[in-house]
Amino acid sequence: MLKTDFKTYLKDKNLNLYKDKIEKIKNIFNTGGKMLDWYYIDKCISPKEIDSIKNISQNIQKNCDLFIVIGIGGSFLGAKAIISALTPYFSKNKPEIVFAGNSLSEEYLQELIKYMDDKEVIINVISKSGNTLEPSIAFDIIYEKMKIKYSNDELKKRIIVTTDPKEGILRELANKNDYLTFDIPTQIGGRYSVLTTVGLLPIAVAGFDIEKLLLGAKQVNVDEAFRYAIIRDILYKEHKIVELFTFYEPKLEYFIEWLKQLFGETQGKNKLGILPSSSNNTRDLHSLGQFYQEGTPIIFETIIGINKKGKLKNNLYTHFVEDINMIALKQVAFAHLDAGVESNLIIIDKLDELHLGMLIYFFEIAAAVGGYLLDVNPFDQPGVTAYKKLIEIELKK
Ligand code: PA5
Repeated sequence: MLKTDFKTYLKDKNLNLYKDKIEKIKNIFNTGGKMLDWYYIDKCISPKEIDSIKNISQNIQKNCDLFIVIGIGGSFLGAKAIISALTPYFSKNKPEIVFAGNSLSEEYLQELIKYMDDKEVIINVISKSGNTLEPSIAFDIIYEKMKIKYSNDELKKRIIVTTDPKEGILRELANKNDYLTFDIPTQIGGRYSVLTTVGLLPIAVAGFDIEKLLLGAKQVNVDEAFRYAIIRDILYKEHKIVELFTFYEPKLEYFIEWLKQLFGETQGKNKLGILPSSSNNTRDLHSLGQFYQEGTPIIFETIIGINKKGKLKNNLYTHFVEDINMIALKQVAFAHLDAGVESNLIIIDKLDELHLGMLIYFFEIAAAVGGYLLDVNPFDQPGVTAYKKLIEIELKK
């Protein structure tokens, strides 16, 4: 179950004012507008693609030590978020999954190339456009290394391209060399693509149940996601311009990074939008807690909690460690509320595929609704395009 609490840590909000706006937005969703295929979970991925991902991921698990996922932004964060959330803290998975192409760190690439030396490697390059700077450079370098390590025939089993169904340089390369490919649905943008081939192949390779993720998404109460979107909008109009995604389980760190991209790129345009930020608690309470409590009053929080029952005893308190964590979550929210920092609370029963699927879809809906409430296009990112162009101009001089 995904439960929400939009009362305990919030002051009263009048949601009725949004009735007409919400009707209109629901209409856009239900008539299936442009870039809205993610809303229809069955359009994210077909049963045939699910089977193919399941087969191929088993094959990958058997035939490599190192699986390199190359991509950035929406072509990286979703898979990283789910794999990090579900992988035990101290484990050595086979195959080891590493990510590349999400920075321009030469050091990272040099170390990775060396690391590939004594390993059987399979790579999955993911890019909808096929020409994003960081993954293009990473792919170029890793591909060169693969060509040294493996024959052309072997490369056909070791290079997997996830890209636009028809166009782009990666699609051309894959067609020319007969590499295995997966399509990224045309009507789904990067930050809404975790439940497509983009996120699901790496997640399946990591050994997680992709069908449970999809099932979780289907169980979301859409109206509740709309309610959260309205509350965010009301808080924004009350000049709370920073949303702190607060979490008490560090395994959620990358899930929150995914959330930051989802909300930041969806809403931050036309000089509008809530700035998504994050707080990894209780760690950050000891560095930023003072600001939250008494700093410039521009913050509201959305707390993501997990309703786990503690088992681990300690000699200091009668409570188990996990129960202390939950007490901290609640008491900190009360302390913040006393200081005027309001919080939404979203609680899942368990950190597993089903509940992560619920969180993904819940937040995707809320982000898109938030975009419509600001009257911006939730699915473009003109600012990203602007800086990409300037880098290109400089590189071509
Ligand atoms: O949400 C988005 O559309 C972006 O973050 C993209 O995912 C990111 O820029 C990577 O683009 P591409 O998949 O074309 O390489």
